Amino acid sequence: MRAVLTLAFAVALLLVPGAADAGTPHGTPKEPLAAYGYHLYGQYCLACHGGNAAGRYDEPSNATGEGPGREQGQQGGIGPSLHGVGALAADFYLRTGYMPLRHLGLQPRRRPVLFSDHQIKALVAYVATFGGPAIPTPKPALGSLSQGQALFTEHCAGCHQVLAQGGYVKGGLPPDLMQATARQVAEAVRIGPYVMPRFSQRALSDRQLDSIVRYVQFTHAPTRPGGWGLGYLGPVPEGLVTWFLAIPALLVLCLLLGRRLSR
Ligand code: HEC
Ligand code: HEC
Repeated sequence: MRAVLTLAFAVALLLVPGAADAGTPHGTPKEPLAAYGYHLYGQYCLACHGGNAAGRYDEPSNATGEGPGREQGQQGGIGPSLHGVGALAADFYLRTGYMPLRHLGLQPRRRPVLFSDHQIKALVAYVATFGGPAIPTPKPALGSLSQGQALFTEHCAGCHQVLAQGGYVKGGLPPDLMQATARQVAEAVRIGPYVMPRFSQRALSDRQLDSIVRYVQFTHAPTRPGGWGLGYLGPVPEGLVTWFLAIPALLVLCLLLGRRLSR
Protein backbone atom coordinates (compact mmCIF):
# COMPACT_ATOMS: atom_id res chain seq x y z
CA MET A 1 0.00 0.00 0.00
CA ARG A 2 2.72 2.38 0.99
CA ALA A 3 4.58 1.68 -2.24
CA VAL A 4 1.45 2.51 -4.24
CA LEU A 5 1.00 5.77 -2.35
CA THR A 6 4.63 6.75 -2.90
CA LEU A 7 4.27 5.98 -6.57
CA ALA A 8 1.05 8.00 -6.84
CA PHE A 9 2.77 10.88 -5.07
CA ALA A 10 5.73 10.74 -7.44
CA VAL A 11 3.41 10.70 -10.46
CA ALA A 12 1.44 13.64 -9.04
CA LEU A 13 4.70 15.56 -8.57
CA LEU A 14 5.50 15.02 -12.23
CA LEU A 15 2.03 16.05 -13.36
CA VAL A 16 1.44 19.14 -11.23
CA PRO A 17 2.92 22.01 -13.21
CA GLY A 18 5.74 23.66 -11.39
CA ALA A 19 6.06 20.86 -8.87
CA ALA A 20 9.00 19.44 -10.81
CA ASP A 21 10.65 22.82 -10.40
CA ALA A 22 10.49 22.43 -6.63
CA GLY A 23 14.12 21.33 -6.63
CA THR A 24 15.40 24.29 -8.66
CA PRO A 25 17.19 26.96 -6.68
CA HIS A 26 15.47 30.06 -5.43
CA GLY A 27 17.50 33.14 -4.66
CA THR A 28 21.27 33.27 -4.68
CA PRO A 29 22.92 30.02 -5.80
CA LYS A 30 25.64 28.66 -3.50
CA GLU A 31 28.27 28.12 -6.16
CA PRO A 32 30.33 31.39 -6.42
CA LEU A 33 30.37 31.63 -10.24
CA ALA A 34 26.61 31.07 -10.49
CA ALA A 35 26.09 33.52 -7.61
CA TYR A 36 27.96 36.19 -9.57
CA GLY A 37 25.79 35.28 -12.58
CA TYR A 38 22.70 35.72 -10.42
CA HIS A 39 23.72 39.31 -9.70
CA LEU A 40 24.45 40.07 -13.34
CA TYR A 41 21.10 38.49 -14.21
CA GLY A 42 19.36 40.86 -11.80
CA GLN A 43 20.98 43.80 -13.53
CA TYR A 44 20.66 42.85 -17.20
CA CYS A 45 18.06 40.13 -17.70
CA LEU A 46 15.50 40.19 -14.87
CA ALA A 47 13.32 42.89 -16.42
CA CYS A 48 12.47 40.63 -19.35
CA HIS A 49 13.02 37.06 -18.16
CA GLY A 50 11.50 37.57 -14.73
CA GLY A 51 12.36 36.50 -11.19
CA ASN A 52 13.94 33.06 -10.93
CA ALA A 53 14.29 33.10 -14.75
CA ALA A 54 10.71 31.80 -14.97
CA GLY A 55 9.78 34.11 -17.85
CA ARG A 56 7.35 37.02 -17.99
CA TYR A 57 4.12 36.46 -19.78
CA ASP A 58 2.24 39.60 -18.78
CA GLU A 59 1.48 42.05 -21.56
CA PRO A 60 4.19 44.68 -21.93
CA SER A 61 2.90 48.13 -20.98
CA ASN A 62 3.59 49.40 -24.48
CA ALA A 63 1.97 46.23 -25.86
CA THR A 64 2.16 45.94 -29.60
CA GLY A 65 1.09 42.31 -29.30
CA GLU A 66 4.33 41.10 -30.80
CA GLY A 67 6.80 40.48 -27.99
CA PRO A 68 8.65 37.60 -29.64
CA GLY A 69 8.83 34.47 -27.56
CA ARG A 70 10.58 31.38 -28.80
CA GLU A 71 7.37 29.42 -28.87
CA GLN A 72 4.10 30.57 -30.28
CA GLY A 73 2.39 30.39 -26.89
CA GLN A 74 4.74 33.10 -25.69
CA GLN A 75 3.72 35.65 -28.30
CA GLY A 76 2.66 38.73 -26.39
CA GLY A 77 4.87 37.87 -23.42
CA ILE A 78 8.02 39.74 -22.54
CA GLY A 79 10.79 37.18 -22.25
CA PRO A 80 10.53 33.38 -22.28
CA SER A 81 11.35 31.18 -19.30
CA LEU A 82 14.98 30.05 -19.18
CA HIS A 83 14.19 26.84 -17.32
CA GLY A 84 15.60 23.89 -19.21
CA VAL A 85 17.27 25.95 -21.97
CA GLY A 86 20.60 25.13 -20.34
CA ALA A 87 24.17 26.33 -20.66
CA LEU A 88 23.83 25.61 -24.39
CA ALA A 89 21.28 28.35 -25.11
CA ALA A 90 22.78 30.84 -22.65
CA ASP A 91 26.23 30.44 -24.21
CA PHE A 92 24.81 30.92 -27.72
CA TYR A 93 22.63 33.96 -26.97
CA LEU A 94 25.36 35.71 -24.95
CA ARG A 95 28.40 35.02 -27.15
CA THR A 96 26.57 36.09 -30.30
CA GLY A 97 25.54 39.30 -28.55
CA TYR A 98 21.86 38.35 -29.21
CA MET A 99 21.23 39.00 -25.50
CA PRO A 100 20.55 41.23 -23.69
CA LEU A 101 17.94 42.23 -26.26
CA ARG A 102 17.85 46.00 -26.56
CA HIS A 103 14.09 46.25 -26.60
CA LEU A 104 11.05 44.11 -27.14
CA GLY A 105 9.78 43.33 -30.61
CA LEU A 106 13.27 43.04 -32.13
CA GLN A 107 14.64 39.94 -33.74
CA PRO A 108 17.82 39.06 -31.80
CA ARG A 109 20.81 39.96 -34.00
CA ARG A 110 24.56 39.67 -33.75
CA ARG A 111 25.83 42.63 -31.76
CA PRO A 112 29.06 43.52 -29.98
CA VAL A 113 29.20 41.33 -26.87
CA LEU A 114 28.50 43.34 -23.75
CA PHE A 115 30.17 41.05 -21.22
CA SER A 116 33.67 39.80 -20.43
CA ASP A 117 34.38 36.10 -20.82
CA HIS A 118 34.18 35.65 -17.06
CA GLN A 119 30.81 37.41 -16.88
CA ILE A 120 29.46 35.22 -19.67
CA LYS A 121 30.62 32.10 -17.84
CA ALA A 122 28.90 33.38 -14.70
CA LEU A 123 25.59 34.06 -16.47
CA VAL A 124 25.80 30.69 -18.23
CA ALA A 125 26.42 28.99 -14.87
CA TYR A 126 23.39 30.75 -13.38
CA VAL A 127 21.07 29.81 -16.26
CA ALA A 128 22.41 26.24 -16.06
CA THR A 129 21.18 25.94 -12.45
CA PHE A 130 17.67 25.70 -13.97
CA GLY A 131 18.60 22.55 -15.91
CA GLY A 132 19.03 21.83 -19.58
CA PRO A 133 21.70 20.74 -22.07
CA ALA A 134 25.41 21.47 -21.66
CA ILE A 135 27.49 23.41 -24.19
CA PRO A 136 28.16 21.07 -27.16
CA THR A 137 31.60 20.30 -28.58
CA PRO A 138 31.17 19.60 -32.30
CA LYS A 139 33.95 17.69 -34.07
CA PRO A 140 33.79 18.88 -37.70
CA ALA A 141 36.90 16.84 -38.52
CA LEU A 142 34.82 13.69 -38.03
CA GLY A 143 32.11 14.90 -40.41
CA SER A 144 31.95 14.58 -44.17
CA LEU A 145 31.94 17.68 -46.36
CA SER A 146 29.73 16.20 -49.08
CA GLN A 147 27.22 14.83 -46.57
CA GLY A 148 27.29 18.22 -44.86
CA GLN A 149 26.53 19.98 -48.11
CA ALA A 150 23.62 17.63 -48.84
CA LEU A 151 22.17 18.04 -45.33
CA PHE A 152 22.65 21.80 -45.38
CA THR A 153 20.94 22.06 -48.77
CA GLU A 154 18.04 19.99 -47.49
CA HIS A 155 17.52 21.51 -44.03
CA CYS A 156 19.09 24.95 -43.93
CA ALA A 157 19.59 26.45 -47.40
CA GLY A 158 15.89 27.30 -47.78
CA CYS A 159 16.49 30.04 -45.23
CA HIS A 160 20.24 30.66 -45.08
CA GLN A 161 20.91 30.23 -48.83
CA VAL A 162 23.07 27.43 -50.14
CA LEU A 163 26.41 29.13 -49.42
CA ALA A 164 25.13 30.41 -46.05
CA GLN A 165 24.93 34.04 -47.16
CA GLY A 166 21.63 34.64 -45.36
CA GLY A 167 18.21 35.32 -46.80
CA TYR A 168 14.62 36.29 -46.11
CA VAL A 169 11.72 34.34 -44.65
CA LYS A 170 8.33 35.39 -43.38
CA GLY A 171 8.70 36.87 -39.91
CA GLY A 172 12.49 36.96 -39.66
CA LEU A 173 15.82 37.49 -41.34
CA PRO A 174 18.05 34.39 -41.43
CA PRO A 175 21.56 35.82 -40.98
CA ASP A 176 24.59 34.84 -43.02
CA LEU A 177 26.70 32.29 -41.16
CA MET A 178 30.10 33.86 -41.82
CA GLN A 179 30.71 34.74 -38.17
CA ALA A 180 29.21 31.60 -36.68
CA THR A 181 31.81 29.44 -34.93
CA ALA A 182 31.59 25.63 -34.99
CA ARG A 183 30.13 25.70 -31.49
CA GLN A 184 27.53 28.31 -32.41
CA VAL A 185 26.36 26.30 -35.43
CA ALA A 186 25.93 23.23 -33.21
CA GLU A 187 24.10 25.32 -30.61
CA ALA A 188 21.79 27.08 -33.08
CA VAL A 189 20.71 23.75 -34.60
CA ARG A 190 19.72 22.37 -31.19
CA ILE A 191 18.01 25.62 -30.05
CA GLY A 192 16.24 26.87 -33.15
CA PRO A 193 16.51 30.56 -32.26
CA TYR A 194 13.61 32.85 -33.18
CA VAL A 195 11.77 31.53 -36.28
CA MET A 196 14.42 28.90 -37.02
CA PRO A 197 13.18 25.34 -36.37
CA ARG A 198 14.85 23.25 -33.68
CA PHE A 199 16.48 20.01 -34.81
CA SER A 200 16.43 17.19 -32.24
CA GLN A 201 19.06 14.43 -32.09
CA ARG A 202 16.55 12.27 -33.92
CA ALA A 203 16.15 14.75 -36.80
CA LEU A 204 19.93 15.28 -37.08
CA SER A 205 22.38 13.05 -35.21
CA ASP A 206 25.50 14.55 -33.65
CA ARG A 207 27.57 13.03 -36.45
CA GLN A 208 25.34 14.59 -39.13
CA LEU A 209 25.66 17.85 -37.25
CA ASP A 210 29.47 17.49 -37.42
CA SER A 211 29.13 17.26 -41.20
CA ILE A 212 26.94 20.37 -41.33
CA VAL A 213 29.42 22.29 -39.18
CA ARG A 214 32.21 21.20 -41.52
CA TYR A 215 30.24 22.43 -44.52
CA VAL A 216 29.47 25.79 -42.86
CA GLN A 217 33.20 26.20 -42.14
CA PHE A 218 33.89 25.42 -45.80
CA THR A 219 31.53 28.23 -46.88
CA HIS A 220 33.69 30.68 -44.91
CA ALA A 221 36.36 30.27 -47.58
CA PRO A 222 34.88 28.31 -50.49
CA THR A 223 37.07 27.24 -53.38
CA ARG A 224 35.87 28.90 -56.57
CA PRO A 225 36.77 26.92 -59.62
CA GLY A 226 34.61 29.24 -61.75
CA GLY A 227 36.51 32.44 -60.88
CA TRP A 228 34.86 35.51 -59.38
CA GLY A 229 32.16 34.36 -56.90
CA LEU A 230 30.05 37.56 -56.98
CA GLY A 231 29.15 37.17 -53.30
CA TYR A 232 27.71 33.70 -54.13
CA LEU A 233 24.29 35.25 -54.49
CA GLY A 234 23.29 33.11 -57.43
CA PRO A 235 22.05 33.73 -60.96
CA VAL A 236 20.62 37.25 -60.52
CA PRO A 237 23.90 39.08 -59.87
CA GLU A 238 25.51 36.84 -62.48
CA GLY A 239 22.90 38.08 -64.95
CA LEU A 240 23.48 41.66 -63.89
CA VAL A 241 27.17 41.29 -64.63
CA THR A 242 26.24 40.22 -68.15
CA TRP A 243 24.00 43.24 -68.61
CA PHE A 244 26.11 45.91 -67.00
CA LEU A 245 29.66 44.75 -67.76
CA ALA A 246 29.72 42.25 -70.62
CA ILE A 247 27.18 43.88 -72.97
CA PRO A 248 28.58 47.44 -72.69
CA ALA A 249 32.06 46.01 -73.24
CA LEU A 250 30.86 44.24 -76.40
CA LEU A 251 29.12 47.41 -77.62
CA VAL A 252 32.28 49.46 -77.17
CA LEU A 253 34.20 46.78 -79.06
CA CYS A 254 31.65 46.89 -81.92
CA LEU A 255 31.88 50.66 -82.11
CA LEU A 256 35.67 50.58 -82.19
CA LEU A 257 35.69 47.89 -84.88
CA GLY A 258 33.08 49.77 -86.90
CA ARG A 259 35.12 52.95 -86.77
CA ARG A 260 38.23 51.12 -87.91
CA LEU A 261 36.43 49.48 -90.86
CA SER A 262 34.80 52.74 -92.06
CA ARG A 263 38.19 54.47 -92.16
C1 HEC B 1 14.39 43.43 -23.66
C2 HEC B 1 14.09 42.12 -23.12
C3 HEC B 1 15.20 41.11 -22.90
C4 HEC B 1 16.37 41.27 -22.17
C5 HEC B 1 16.87 42.50 -21.44
C6 HEC B 1 17.02 39.97 -22.18
N1 HEC B 1 16.29 39.07 -22.91
FE1 HEC B 1 16.78 37.13 -23.29
N2 HEC B 1 15.17 36.96 -24.52
C7 HEC B 1 14.23 37.95 -24.76
C8 HEC B 1 13.30 37.48 -25.78
C9 HEC B 1 12.12 38.27 -26.33
C10 HEC B 1 13.73 36.18 -26.15
C11 HEC B 1 13.14 35.26 -27.23
C12 HEC B 1 14.03 35.49 -28.45
C13 HEC B 1 13.82 34.54 -29.57
O1 HEC B 1 12.68 34.23 -29.90
O2 HEC B 1 14.85 34.10 -30.16
C14 HEC B 1 14.90 35.88 -25.33
C15 HEC B 1 15.60 34.67 -25.38
C16 HEC B 1 16.65 34.33 -24.54
C17 HEC B 1 17.28 33.02 -24.48
C18 HEC B 1 16.89 31.81 -25.31
C19 HEC B 1 15.77 31.09 -24.61
C20 HEC B 1 15.37 29.82 -25.31
O3 HEC B 1 14.18 29.48 -25.26
O4 HEC B 1 16.24 29.16 -25.91
C21 HEC B 1 18.27 33.09 -23.55
C22 HEC B 1 19.20 31.98 -23.11
C23 HEC B 1 18.26 34.45 -23.02
N3 HEC B 1 17.27 35.17 -23.64
C24 HEC B 1 19.13 34.91 -22.05
C25 HEC B 1 19.18 36.24 -21.63
C26 HEC B 1 20.15 36.73 -20.69
C27 HEC B 1 21.21 35.88 -19.99
C28 HEC B 1 19.91 38.08 -20.54
C29 HEC B 1 20.68 39.08 -19.70
C30 HEC B 1 22.08 39.18 -19.98
C31 HEC B 1 18.77 38.42 -21.41
N4 HEC B 1 18.36 37.27 -22.04
C32 HEC B 1 18.22 39.69 -21.53
C33 HEC B 1 14.15 39.18 -24.14
C34 HEC B 1 15.16 39.74 -23.37
C1 HEC C 1 12.95 28.71 -41.27
C2 HEC C 1 14.24 29.28 -41.61
C3 HEC C 1 15.51 28.65 -41.05
C4 HEC C 1 15.98 27.36 -41.23
C5 HEC C 1 15.33 26.21 -41.98
C6 HEC C 1 17.27 27.33 -40.58
N1 HEC C 1 17.55 28.55 -40.00
FE1 HEC C 1 19.23 29.04 -38.98
N2 HEC C 1 18.44 30.85 -38.52
C7 HEC C 1 17.23 31.34 -38.98
C8 HEC C 1 16.96 32.63 -38.37
C9 HEC C 1 15.75 33.52 -38.60
C10 HEC C 1 18.06 32.91 -37.52
C11 HEC C 1 18.26 34.14 -36.63
C12 HEC C 1 17.81 33.80 -35.23
C13 HEC C 1 17.64 34.99 -34.31
O1 HEC C 1 17.72 36.13 -34.75
O2 HEC C 1 17.42 34.76 -33.08
C14 HEC C 1 18.97 31.78 -37.66
C15 HEC C 1 20.22 31.69 -37.02
C16 HEC C 1 21.15 30.72 -37.26
C17 HEC C 1 22.52 30.73 -36.75
C18 HEC C 1 23.17 31.84 -35.93
C19 HEC C 1 23.90 32.72 -36.94
C20 HEC C 1 24.48 34.02 -36.42
O3 HEC C 1 25.66 34.22 -36.67
O4 HEC C 1 23.76 34.82 -35.83
C21 HEC C 1 23.11 29.58 -37.20
C22 HEC C 1 24.56 29.16 -36.95
C23 HEC C 1 22.13 28.85 -37.97
N3 HEC C 1 20.95 29.56 -37.99
C24 HEC C 1 22.35 27.64 -38.59
C25 HEC C 1 21.36 26.89 -39.23
C26 HEC C 1 21.56 25.53 -39.72
C27 HEC C 1 22.88 24.78 -39.67
C28 HEC C 1 20.36 25.12 -40.24
C29 HEC C 1 20.00 23.76 -40.84
C30 HEC C 1 20.26 22.60 -40.00
C31 HEC C 1 19.42 26.23 -40.10
N4 HEC C 1 20.05 27.27 -39.48
C32 HEC C 1 18.09 26.21 -40.54
C33 HEC C 1 16.38 30.69 -39.87
C34 HEC C 1 16.48 29.38 -40.26
